[in-house]
Amino acid sequence: MNLSVRKFDAVVVGAGGSGMRAALELARAKLKVAVLSKVFPTRSHTVAAQGGIAASLGNSSEDNWHWHMYDTVKGSDYLGDQDAIEYMCRRAVEVVVELEHMGMPFDRLDNGKIYQRPFGGHTQDYGSPKMAMRACAAADRTGHAMLHTLYQQNVKANTQFFVEWMALDLIRDPSGRVIGVVALEMETGEVHVLQSKAVLLATGGSGRIFYSSTNAFINTGDGLGMAIRAGIPLQDMEFFQFHPTGVYGAGVLITEGVRGEGGYLLNKNGERFMERYAPNAKDLASRDVVSRAMTLEIQEGRGCGPNGDHVLLKLDHLGADVIDKRLPGIREIAIKFANADPIKDPIPVVPTVHYQMGGVPANYMGQVVVPGANGPEEIVPGLYAVGECSCVSVHGANRLGTNSLLDLVVFGKAAGEQIVRDVRALPESHPDLPKDAADRPLARLAHLDSASSGERVVDVSTDLRRAMQLHCGVFRFPQMLKDGVTKMQEIAARAERVFIQDKSKVFNTARIEALELDNMVQSALATVVSAEARTESRGAQARDDFKDRDDANWLKHTLYFPDGRLEYKPVHMKPLTVDAFEPKVRTY
Ligand code: FUM
Repeated sequence: MNLSVRKFDAVVVGAGGSGMRAALELARAKLKVAVLSKVFPTRSHTVAAQGGIAASLGNSSEDNWHWHMYDTVKGSDYLGDQDAIEYMCRRAVEVVVELEHMGMPFDRLDNGKIYQRPFGGHTQDYGSPKMAMRACAAADRTGHAMLHTLYQQNVKANTQFFVEWMALDLIRDPSGRVIGVVALEMETGEVHVLQSKAVLLATGGSGRIFYSSTNAFINTGDGLGMAIRAGIPLQDMEFFQFHPTGVYGAGVLITEGVRGEGGYLLNKNGERFMERYAPNAKDLASRDVVSRAMTLEIQEGRGCGPNGDHVLLKLDHLGADVIDKRLPGIREIAIKFANADPIKDPIPVVPTVHYQMGGVPANYMGQVVVPGANGPEEIVPGLYAVGECSCVSVHGANRLGTNSLLDLVVFGKAAGEQIVRDVRALPESHPDLPKDAADRPLARLAHLDSASSGERVVDVSTDLRRAMQLHCGVFRFPQMLKDGVTKMQEIAARAERVFIQDKSKVFNTARIEALELDNMVQSALATVVSAEARTESRGAQARDDFKDRDDANWLKHTLYFPDGRLEYKPVHMKPLTVDAFEPKVRTY
């Protein structure tokens, strides 16, 4: 192996909210930390988060972390691990106040406190009809404000960024410890080894495996592909969230904050149909409930437009002042992508893939855990995962809006703290690298450099996205799922035969897309195989043939292994300090 080798205490793969929050903890502790990112850090997908970050500050309505915890457990359709959920909801206030003190420009109430708005599924008093105002917001650009704040703090703390570097694979030593990554410098096409005592995967989700998605083009599940290729299973990948309000035709996100501010959905008869599906929470029911209701309205002939294939989001009654002050980005998006000015026109919307609840199995300190001789959750030394690429699991089968930004900073910080402890307990020097450390990614690149014929990347990736959209949608049908598995296996075989015409080294995006396709294939396979096997409806998985939740048989996490095998492990039903919330029928 004749590659450049650089040595670090910790390598963070991904510069979104979770990666940057972790990196900050590491840099402040004076660890030598490298952050790799395919894009400039402030272009990471966190920048697209709109409506807010959940924390029971109680600035605008009575609130406390117990209610937040209850809502999150219920929102997860009882698949969330209750210890991790308690941990997140309890630490929420601390991490939001920290962001405030770092200078994050939250909107303010007249009394100077952080502005908070209601969001779907967030209630007062353990699910009462009264909504909690829990979403701390910076207008409708909360992720943007957070990402810039974290970036500036990292610059101040001397975090070393490797911008436009794509991590390709993990390096494990013969004992299984993760000791670094192999990465591609996109500007030059050179491959490097970054040796490290800790590797943190913070690569975001894989929402781009669907055709219609609110996700950035970079969200190709790179951390998931790296994990699978390193022999690590993926957890609960069947649960993909459809956000109710993607702009019809474009997929761009329209924040749930619109409904938090008082906007509502209408069908072609001008009916506020959510009143029928969720009499209490109405348009602020949780996302799986609203997305299913919208899909049913469309399927039953009450959709809008010439093709009856979308519904309308009405917000003109909020008035120009509220829209311009609280939802300025939404107005801009609606005008640009839907040709509708929400001050006077409703926005055409459809449920659009938004968030992956599953991912690399991790505990609430960010340590990656896999089944082993001593139980279902043995720590993989040296490997950590946070943010959307991880499955902690706080979101279970369905995530509540604004719990994602929260998850990023709570678990980013927690993983950072854990890595500091772990790295300080290790010897000063790095172990020798295995001779074959970079063989797999080098072989993949060599194949792309030499192949002169085969499938075009764009054809395979488009087929993959179309297949996922068709076979793994809001409602799932048994034969469609079976066919989806077969189709995805065929697509996986085709992906091995792709070739690229442009062989140049300098900023060759064709090569990057081919490498991303390998990761998308892993994520898509895990999703469709896990979905086909789970014969119940829970959260984001709504099966036509098994319409009910089946706690007797399915109150368990799925693990999808690299060879396509599935195993299951128990949900953590025991919180850290309070009584458990026992599963019950979930209504809003
Ligand atoms: O609707 C939104 O603003 C999205 C928030 C989230 O996914 O947490």
